Amino acid sequence: MFLSRPAALRRALIAAILVLSAASARAQILGSAHDFTSAGWAQSQSCLPCHTPHNAARIEIEGFEAGRLWNHNLPALSQVYTTYEGDLSRNDALDSYSILCMGCHDGTVALDSFGGDLGNTFITGNGLVGTDLTQQHPVGVSAPWPEPETPEFNPRSTWENQTFGNSRMGRLRLMLIDGIERSVVSCATCHEPHGRGGHDYLLRIDNTDSQLCFACHAK
Ligand code: HEC
Ligand code: HEC
Ligand code: HEC
Ligand code: HEC
Repeated sequence: MFLSRPAALRRALIAAILVLSAASARAQILGSAHDFTSAGWAQSQSCLPCHTPHNAARIEIEGFEAGRLWNHNLPALSQVYTTYEGDLSRNDALDSYSILCMGCHDGTVALDSFGGDLGNTFITGNGLVGTDLTQQHPVGVSAPWPEPETPEFNPRSTWENQTFGNSRMGRLRLMLIDGIERSVVSCATCHEPHGRGGHDYLLRIDNTDSQLCFACHAK
């Protein structure tokens, strides 16, 4: 088919924008807080502390798959977290994705504990979330989605239709609570570990004017 000039121009423009946005998407982990290339403990690697291309353990926690090709050691199964519901061990306190994050952020496992090494450099400062989760936004707690919806929360679609760096990942996570599969808020619900959201604090949605909070909470 013959394209009119404006249509051809538009196509060329769209193609150019796609190429540009692909390039910037690739660049996002570099320069983010998860850019470990200049950290001494990370062997100058940007993916390796978290992923490995070969011989990875498949991370499946209570039947739910988490990070693929995961390379970093996880908190011990017996690790206890203080939650709003009391002290719970790892798999009862956290969904499988939050467990991946806590392999660095709870401070019980070294940052350089990957690829078979045990490591000895621990996270400090603001990055240290610790094991007391009662001062953090709840994770691993049942969210009232998809049913029943309550007036306290926007419908799940409001949250999931936000523009994410990668919409496939902007999801509530599944977790077994008292043997029942439920949708829960995870660290990876609000944060995108590669910074592809392009927002401060590796957030999936910019939190100016509390937009992130309003996406779920109807207040
Ligand atoms: C700080 C840890 C961390 C680093 C560094 C990291 N990732 Fe990831 N990655 C994750 C986590 C956690 C997930 C699962 C997150 C989810 O699905 O919400 C993931 C998922 C993925 C996935 C599958 C889901 C998707 O987003 O497509 C790919 C592919 C991936 N990472 C590639 C990379 C590459 C390539 C690098 C290096 C440039 C990298 N990652 C660096 C933590 C990391
Ligand atoms: C391999 C270890 C590792 C893993 C796994 C990891 N992080 Fe991090 N994260 C770090 C380090 C190191 C920093 C930088 C801390 C600092 O600068 O003090 C950081 C920083 C952050 C920050 C601060 C961002 C900023 O701009 O200040 C957030 C948010 C964060 N991580 C969330 C997550 C989430 C969510 C996950 C799981 C999806 C995760 N991290 C998994 C090591 C890790
Ligand atoms: C409900 C959304 C939400 C969830 C869930 C969440 N975070 Fe955050 N996180 C934020 C926001 C917003 C910020 C920006 C700083 C702030 O407001 O305190 C942040 C900041 C951070 C920081 C940087 C702290 C600083 O002061 O530099 C780290 C590290 C972090 N989060 C890790 C995690 C980890 C690990 C989890 C899971 C245990 C998690 N977050 C769960 C929303 C969330
Ligand atoms: C992905 C959806 C989602 C996002 C985004 C979100 N929340 Fe929540 N929030 C929840 C859920 C689910 C609960 C748990 C409700 C329950 O236990 O009844 C909760 C609980 C809370 C609570 C009650 C904690 C307690 O002590 O019981 C507060 C306060 C709160 N959120 C504030 C925030 C703030 C501030 C933000 C923005 C930084 C935010 N939320 C973003 C889903 C979300």
